[in-house]
Order: sequence, then structure tokens, then C-alpha cells
Amino acid sequence: MKLSPAQIQEFGEKGYLFFPELFSAVEIAVLKSEVPGIFAQRRQENVREKTGDVVRTTFAAHTFNEAFRRLAHHPRLVEPAEQLLGSKIYIHQFKINGKAAFDGDVWQWHQDYGTWQADDDMPNPRAMNLAVFLDEVTEFNGPLWFIPGSHRDGRIEAGHDLTTTSYPLWTIDNATIAKLVRQGGIISPKGKPGAALFFHCNIVHGSPPNMSPYERVIVYISANSVENAIRRYKRPEWIAHRDFTPVMSLDDDCLKTYRRGQAAE
Ligand code: SIN
Ligand code: MN
Repeated sequence: MKLSPAQIQEFGEKGYLFFPELFSAVEIAVLKSEVPGIFAQRRQENVREKTGDVVRTTFAAHTFNEAFRRLAHHPRLVEPAEQLLGSKIYIHQFKINGKAAFDGDVWQWHQDYGTWQADDDMPNPRAMNLAVFLDEVTEFNGPLWFIPGSHRDGRIEAGHDLTTTSYPLWTIDNATIAKLVRQGGIISPKGKPGAALFFHCNIVHGSPPNMSPYERVIVYISANSVENAIRRYKRPEWIAHRDFTPVMSLDDDCLKTYRRGQAAE
């Protein structure tokens, strides 16, 4: 899938692009049906909420689950990322964020590049997220909040928050957020399963807790330019990958042709 010049310009201005129907119901059903089995596993890649025995994030599922490996190589994600980053890409991080009904905790205001630079020594903000909704995202179940255009301010000073949630994050203080919101406002893309959000690694974002009875699973593929590989290996490999091999796209029907339990080809 190729982005138009107008879409590339919009990404540059706002820092994100929203696609209400990037994947079909059949494709999303393939992915969604894998999630309970993944969340049930006791493995280091499953980071649980501090409030309950529910999964906050599964890291690196594309390395141990064939359906998610296919998603990570999907041309509707890989080709736009190559266009926006101006090179081949590799996968820096891969997350299935559970945001479970009732237990899904806050993601504080942050920039992803803040963490990627501070922890992983990623040289430049030449990386982005490709987010795919596996559930309907509404105003109730902890949707993402973005400050449009905030990626243009570059990297903003952040503090390392080790206590608010079960997962350490470099977060931005309230006074700075208030100033940015006065300039750019807040938007919250909502949509059906199969919607997708591509966003710049420097856009300021977060999400409130999910106190609704509705699940909110979103998959995030963090794509980095192969010319921008990380230089510090402080975090585990399954959080910040060291495989800088360029991602090669699979066929457009790669999710539709997946059969449960099928091994990698
Ligand atoms: C993130 O910012 O990395 C995750 C936010 C969310 O899933 O709500
Ligand atoms: Mn983030």
C-alpha cells in the first residue's frame, strides 16, 4: 500500500495518520483469536498490570507467534513506513497492549523516542509506530490521546517514572503538557477493529485507564529505519530488538491465508 503525497504531508504536519478500515474483519479475527492463548502464557514477554493478573503488554509476539509475524511483515504497514522513514525498516519493538476491561492502567504522557533515545541510544527520531486496533476503541475503553503537531518540537525533557504503573516510562511533566495542549489541543482517534494509526515517534501521547467492561487490545509495531539502528543494549532483546535485518513484505493476503497453529514458512 502506497501513501499519497497528501497523506505524507499530513503526517509531517500532524504527526499521525488514521485509517478507519485498514484490515478486514476476517484479518482481525485471525489475530484476535491468538491473543487469549498468548496472554495466558507465563513468559517474560508478558508484562502484567500492577493492579491485577492481567497482561498490560506482550512484547515480541512476532518472534513466537506466526499470525503476528505475518502482521509485522504486512505490506499495508511495511510499505507506508518505508515511505515515511525514507528507507527499509526493521522492527525495534512489537507490543500487544491489553488495556484490559476494568484493569487496564494509564499510559502517562510521553514521546516514544524519549525512551528509545534515553534507554536504547537510538541516534535520530527516524522511527514510528504502526498501531492496529483489534477491538473497537471508544471514548470509554482508554483510547489513545495525541497532541497534534507536538512531534515538531523535537525531543522534550522527560523524567523516568518507575512507580506509576508496572512498566517504566520516560514521562513529560504537567506544565509542559498544558503548554503543548494550548498550542495543539488533544485528539483521540476512535474506531472499529481493523482501524490503524501510524504515528511519529516524537508525537506526545498517552491514554487513560480502562474502567469500562470493554477490552481494548491494540498492537503496536515500532518501525525504525535500518540506517538508525540502536547503539545501546541495556534493555532485554525482547523489548528493544537487535535484529536489524530489513523487513521484507509478505503478500497482501498473508493474514487471510493463515491457518491456526500453522508454523512459519
Ligand atoms: C504506548 O504509548 O506505547 C501505549 C499506549 C496505549 O496502548 O494506550
Ligand atoms: Mn507510546
